Amino acid sequence: MNEALQKAAAALGLSEYSRHIFLCADSSEPKCAPVETTHAAWEYLKRRLKELGLSGPHPLVYRSRANCLRVCTQGPIAVVYPEAVWYHSCTPEALERIIQEHLIGGRPVEDLVIVRNPAAQCSPPAAAGAAGLGESVPGALRRPEADSR
Ligand code: FES
Repeated sequence: MNEALQKAAAALGLSEYSRHIFLCADSSEPKCAPVETTHAAWEYLKRRLKELGLSGPHPLVYRSRANCLRVCTQGPIAVVYPEAVWYHSCTPEALERIIQEHLIGGRPVEDLVIVRNPAAQCSPPAAAGAAGLGESVPGALRRPEADSR
């Protein structure tokens, strides 16, 4: 790996964060919500993660804006990893709950959940450790039994 790439990864804290939230915002073809709604949600998410000390050079939560997460209804749409919990209606009010309850507390916000990916694991907060993650990192990728013919 070249030095510039190592520096970029270190500056972003890519080896440090515990959870990663993707939010559909500012889409070039907004379908899940009006672009003003998704933009406001993205700005809120950025501001709150910074205010709470969760983002920055040593992030506990990494955030990414997605052009489209392909759900395209009842947005803004978000997904939180490593648990792979998908959320609908991510207004600032909903995002505050997702930040407090899931990103910090480790408990998905059930009434906003669209679906969970069963390939991921979700640890209870007690098992989550100091950074909120603990042993919940999914194992190596593998194909389901039915596909391994
Ligand atoms: S436009 Fe938001 S999920 Fe597709």
